Amino acid sequence: PTSDARAGENGPPTVIAHRGASAYAPENTLASVDKAAELGFSWVENDVQRTKDGVLIVLHDDGLERTTDVEQVFPGRAPWKVKDFTAAEIARLDAGSWFSPAYVGTRVPTLTEYMRRLEHNHEKLLLEIKNPELYPGLEQQTLKLLANVGWLDDRHLGRLIVQSFSADSVRTVHELKPAVTTAYLGRPAVSDLPRFADFVDLVNPSYDSLSLGYVSAAHAIDGPHGRPLGLFAWTVNDAATARRVAGYGVDGIISNKPDVVRAALASD
Ligand code: G3P
Ligand code: CA
Repeated sequence: PTSDARAGENGPPTVIAHRGASAYAPENTLASVDKAAELGFSWVENDVQRTKDGVLIVLHDDGLERTTDVEQVFPGRAPWKVKDFTAAEIARLDAGSWFSPAYVGTRVPTLTEYMRRLEHNHEKLLLEIKNPELYPGLEQQTLKLLANVGWLDDRHLGRLIVQSFSADSVRTVHELKPAVTTAYLGRPAVSDLPRFADFVDLVNPSYDSLSLGYVSAAHAIDGPHGRPLGLFAWTVNDAATARRVAGYGVDGIISNKPDVVRAALASD
């Protein structure tokens, strides 16, 4: 089974809400996935890291200071790395007030809480294994959690893609659970694409590294599930870029403003 994100092959790209609808609600929180659902988007992207006591949480940076009030709550604990805080400590932090007073009291979700909310909202997930070099075994642990919440059952595999900037990490996920759809975050040289196609279904490059020729070259190669390699471009937040990148034939567009991308593509 492969992800249904590319069911629209030769159709409009799937639009994925980056860190949730992160232009409108604090990134990587339950509020951001609720906002994506409210705007009518089923696919969301997130970032997974691990606490000192081994709990998987959803957060982008390896430090807590940009998106929480950790400096006020734990002033003596610089440099405020996720891996140096327990889940109970992180649960005390406010992850919404930096974004807007309207979101005071928003928390950093554990991955389990986050998956429950996706389930409730009938959403789909592009999950990023973040900084795997900091967290040995992060791939195994993430897959175990996904299995526990039922997301590795055959009937749910279409709702899930696992990606990383680390090719080793993506290969590990593919080897542990070959049925899971995987993506490499980056733009391998065209000559390297066949090697990547042994273990990734998609290559997800920054939009500014793309061209029509590159997308065509990737589409000409089959991934591990016998379908052409897909491409999701990130992170596209304006209409003109969305139209240009869609014109290259990408399969997905990852955006902080998914509504802007949708409107741009609808007016084609
Ligand atoms: O999903 C693509 C994008 O999230 C990769 O960059 O830094 O936002 O995780 P970053
Ligand atoms: Ca990410």
